[in-house]
Amino acid sequence: MTLPENDTRTPVPAVARRAVLAGAGVAAVGAVAACGGGATTDDTEQQQAGDVPQGAPGTVLGPASEVPVGGGKIYSEAQIVVTQPAAGQFTGLSTICTHAGCTVNAVADGAIVCPCHQSRFGLDGAVVQGPATQPLPQRPVTVADGSIALA
Ligand code: FES
Repeated sequence: MTLPENDTRTPVPAVARRAVLAGAGVAAVGAVAACGGGATTDDTEQQQAGDVPQGAPGTVLGPASEVPVGGGKIYSEAQIVVTQPAAGQFTGLSTICTHAGCTVNAVADGAIVCPCHQSRFGLDGAVVQGPATQPLPQRPVTVADGSIALA
């Protein structure tokens, strides 16, 4: 880029401008991915609602003592939430919300909560509050020697 002799602005090379614009695009994609993209209408980057992620049977999630009675614990990497509705009764559920594919991110007041549109699921995965209409898919788990593992 060439400026007239009396122009004091600093020219910005076209290549540098393109790099900045490309970086902005990457940042925007990252923001969508971080929120699970549930608020968008483009499902190409989302899990499909109801998809059940795979995990190798026997994969240890953690100690059963981490799962409170009347609550649950989210294992983000395995995309599974394990609940304990009653002492010694463990239930594994997918963390992928059946409404639009966001990832549930909390277990509070006896419910599993999706941050995208505030669907709430019971500790058995049943819909307590929409907009979701389908329960969270079951993800069987086993408990042995105080550890929870994928079945
Ligand atoms: S994706 Fe809409 S409530 Fe979970």
